[in-house]
Amino acid sequence: MIIAIDGPAASGKGTLGKRLADHLGFAHLDTGLLYRAVAAVLLARGIPLSDREAAARAAESLDVSHLDAPDLRGAAMGEAASVISAYQPVRDALLAFQRQFGRQEPGAVLDGRDIGTVVCPDADVKLFITARPEERARRRHLELLRRGEDVAYETILADIRRRDERDMTRPTAPLKAAADAITLDTTNLDADAAFRAALAIIDGKLRKS
Ligand code: DC
Repeated sequence: MIIAIDGPAASGKGTLGKRLADHLGFAHLDTGLLYRAVAAVLLARGIPLSDREAAARAAESLDVSHLDAPDLRGAAMGEAASVISAYQPVRDALLAFQRQFGRQEPGAVLDGRDIGTVVCPDADVKLFITARPEERARRRHLELLRRGEDVAYETILADIRRRDERDMTRPTAPLKAAADAITLDTTNLDADAAFRAALAIIDGKLRKS
């Protein structure tokens, strides 16, 4: 059983995905971390993010055992990940791992930008999580403050808008809801309410099938 969760930057899909996976006893993969890890390899080696070949090689030889490194979750790495994630060879190199992850029993939750459209088009449930950019910026601001990163709210909002634009307009696997995805707008929902709403959608969907 596969639950696909897609949505823009800071929409809360990672938090939701983890909670759903814990609740259902499923494995969870935040696929953004794969792109962040590829970007981290380039930055650590001083290779410019514009080097497509180096990015593809880094993706092909990615060590997925260090995805829990806290520095991957910072604002700079999200921006860098957005740049290299537009390269088709990078996406191709990360595809097999993601699909394999989705085959785990009793199930898996994958979250990202193209899970319902490209990675797992046959997922049992597809959720598309959105929230207004201002609300996403507010949440990301709080999250970064908690991690000790004091970035101005306006800077975060501008980053989010730029990342939305880049993720939605790239030619390869752009961010968009799959035709059979159910959209959940969390602008006015806290994490608990979003979790309950998502569970209700999943229950409803599974009862029908
Ligand atoms: O979800 P995130 O902020 O960790 O993602 C970082 C970047 O990685 C995002 O701007 C676009 C890219 N990404 C992607 O292209 N496809 C995915 N499935 C997940 C993330």
